[in-house]
Amino acid sequence: MAGSDLVELAKRRGFFFGSNGAYGGTAGFYTFGPRGAALKRNLEDAWRDRFTLKEGNQEIEAPTVMPEPVFEASGHLEGFDDMLVECGECGVSHRADHLVEDATDIEDAEALPGSEVETLIRDHDIACPACGTPLAGREVEDFNLMFATNIGPGDSKPGYLRPETAQGIFVEFPRLKEYARGQLPFGVTQIGPAYRNEISPRGGLLRLREFTQAELEQFIDPEDDDPPLDRVADVEVRLYPADEQGTDGETYLEMPIGEAVAEGVVGSAWVGYYLGLANEWYERIGVDMDRFRFRQHLPGERAHYAADCWDAESEIDGDWIEIAGFAYRGDYDLSKHAEHADDTFTVFKRYDEPRTVERATVDPDMSVLGPEFGGRAGEVAAALERLVERDPDAFEADAVTLELDDGETVTVETDLANFSIEDTTETGEHVTPHVVEPSFGVGRTVQTLLAHAYAEDEVDGEDRTYLGLVPEIAPVDVAVFPLVSNADRLVELSERVADDLRDRGLAVSYDDSGSIGRRYRRQDEIGTPFCVTVDRDGIEGEGPDSVTVRERDGARQVRVPVDDLVEELDALLGG
Ligand code: GAP
Repeated sequence: MAGSDLVELAKRRGFFFGSNGAYGGTAGFYTFGPRGAALKRNLEDAWRDRFTLKEGNQEIEAPTVMPEPVFEASGHLEGFDDMLVECGECGVSHRADHLVEDATDIEDAEALPGSEVETLIRDHDIACPACGTPLAGREVEDFNLMFATNIGPGDSKPGYLRPETAQGIFVEFPRLKEYARGQLPFGVTQIGPAYRNEISPRGGLLRLREFTQAELEQFIDPEDDDPPLDRVADVEVRLYPADEQGTDGETYLEMPIGEAVAEGVVGSAWVGYYLGLANEWYERIGVDMDRFRFRQHLPGERAHYAADCWDAESEIDGDWIEIAGFAYRGDYDLSKHAEHADDTFTVFKRYDEPRTVERATVDPDMSVLGPEFGGRAGEVAAALERLVERDPDAFEADAVTLELDDGETVTVETDLANFSIEDTTETGEHVTPHVVEPSFGVGRTVQTLLAHAYAEDEVDGEDRTYLGLVPEIAPVDVAVFPLVSNADRLVELSERVADDLRDRGLAVSYDDSGSIGRRYRRQDEIGTPFCVTVDRDGIEGEGPDSVTVRERDGARQVRVPVDDLVEELDALLGG
């Protein structure tokens, strides 16, 4: 199936369509129609169930506009750029690194400096995809992807629409850690919109300027990378590590995630834990696992905050699409906010037993340290204190050599009268947690589910298209049809059946227009798992009233007594 067929079906059947069509459309913005909004909601509920509720994590909802200092601290103001090249002829802007990747066998052009990308554009005669004019000689610029705004009138403060939901969690860490009673590990989740002023939005929901993320920030003790890995250790995953990429063909490692962590293929156990959990979840929601893999980022590809990252990728239309990222963010974010903000971004980690530690006491008074240190006695004292924490044994020697802030080294005798090492008792220490972050794109997952569910076959000699969505995700659970719409008893019973099913909490579509065959096709195309038809045979014979239930994938029909219908459908739908 071509991607355009899917986008066309999505529009025809009310899943999603380009926004603001009446005003000529706005690239990069999509509206979810009635079916798409229901499917997206089901997907978010399934995510919440797995990654928030079943994990015992806490969900928050933070604002989407944040003030500039947040993004100074997070590094987005400085480094959240893409490479832009603008056509001199038609004025259309393009992602310069993508043009290079399409024209060469370079997989990771984003990691190259702009000047090298300019050279590659020239050497490979790359032309503007919009008008065909050569782009050689055009400058490649860094383009910041954040949408800027102002907070308040008059002398207002600059602000930005958040480019990831994550920052709304990090900035509130000082409060969130209180809710977790200061105990690591703990996880905080958030589902909501993020905004990026993408240079070239494309592919339906794949690259948008406003999109929904479902993110989990797992705060862990940096010295205790110990998730409940047993729960997922046997989950078989398909891994595509960095060192297998760029070689001939695609060499995957298929192994239980527990083994991948034990062998160091996945460096962090917490990242491995979430890969295992995500693998199970993707399978549950209907991703075709033959068209799915976890790919490790190449070193030059990683975001400014990530020490390691694995992407979940799905195959759509022959291309591999990143649908989620699992990053080891270390202490990057909390340390940056601690530097820039006026609050505490650490937790107090209590030791099992109080510990006796050696602490240096240094009187930074220059007169005691001696005139040979000039005006730098305070600096020398601080360096001594750092050294005593790092290597107390160094003080057994008569003298120690210290490096000062500007790189100059000084030698200090250790028997200075004003310098002593004393035993003190400590009950714990302040640590900056590390962060492991599973970050899911909701729209990209929606598009994956539609693409993987899309199927064509023949029913009763006629071609049909259907979506084999799993019931948990399908936008409509059951459709109810009176066989004909002009027979009072059929209509009355159909309406009653539909009401009973709705009362049970099911999403019901009632349809009485067109031939029964057309009504089935309509439901097949939106992936409704079951259709109930009320016909004369069911209400005119001896015995209790009955209806037919048709199951989507095999188009098989069975007759079910009306009194048993709600129970039976509820069971079939996994209720
Ligand atoms: N907090 C980490 C973060 O934002 P990311 O890899 O930039 O990481 C996470 O984004 C996920 O968000 C991606 O895997 C993708 O599914 C989705 N995403 C990112 N940019 C997107 C865009 N422009 N349109 C649609 N989805 C996008």
